[in-house]
Amino acid sequence: MSEQNPYGGASASDGPKRVRTRHFQNAKRDGIKITGLTSYDQLTARIFDEAGIDFLLVGDSAGNNVLGYETTLPVTVDELIPLTRAVAGAVRRAFVVADMPFGSYESGAEEALHTAVRFMKETGAHAVKLEGGERSHKQIRRIVQSGIPVMAHIGYTPQSEHGLGGHIIQGRGEGLEQLLADAVAVQEAGAFAVVLEMVPSDAARQITERLDIPTISVGAGPHTDGQLLVWTDWAGLTPGRIPKFVKQYADLSGILGAAAQAWQQDVSAGVYPGPEHSYE
Ligand code: KIV
Repeated sequence: MSEQNPYGGASASDGPKRVRTRHFQNAKRDGIKITGLTSYDQLTARIFDEAGIDFLLVGDSAGNNVLGYETTLPVTVDELIPLTRAVAGAVRRAFVVADMPFGSYESGAEEALHTAVRFMKETGAHAVKLEGGERSHKQIRRIVQSGIPVMAHIGYTPQSEHGLGGHIIQGRGEGLEQLLADAVAVQEAGAFAVVLEMVPSDAARQITERLDIPTISVGAGPHTDGQLLVWTDWAGLTPGRIPKFVKQYADLSGILGAAAQAWQQDVSAGVYPGPEHSYE
């Protein structure tokens, strides 16, 4: 859905045209790939928006990337709301998706609706995302019936890491049947798109062909309707091991580390601040 496409591209006269759910549907129909990145702050949100990224997910991956937790499990709605508001307030074109954290929708449809309404009223996001296929279909249906778009998330679902037995590829062998059932369930419940996380490429291809709604890959190979990555992985900021499916497009750790060292040395040597950085 980038630059030259007729659905969400910037227009010189009246500014960029906001990406909406229908643009996701049109992109699938027309074979135009959808792009998404996570974002947790106004500065990256503005950069990614101006670069033409179609949607920004304020993921509960903020837990590992911003809030200092080891997993996404401790993340709360109250922690994600200010981050989501910062992202939504910074973009002009990109569609902003608020991630519903663990413990904010599992009890049932009314709890899920309550959480989704909070995100929509308090942040300016354009949609919510929640994890789970068949097990979350009642929650998805209730939120959609209230006029809030839902992006579903199946395959490896990080909030269920312990139930799934670790960071394991989903949909292999007999698991494919459940994955297909999950995909159909979220479409029938009214989701406008579905994230497929860490599933084999061929399983993702089958789901993409089976569904009318667009599929978005996070480690699900090239046959989906779109691609999504966690920005800190993609930009080389995440320390340690990153998943096989991530391609790094920058080395921000290296750039920031070198800048910090250079500044530290300049201060120690009395080179910074110079006269040009000082007031008369
Ligand atoms: O929180 C997140 O970043 C996500 C993506 C990995 C899909 O849920």
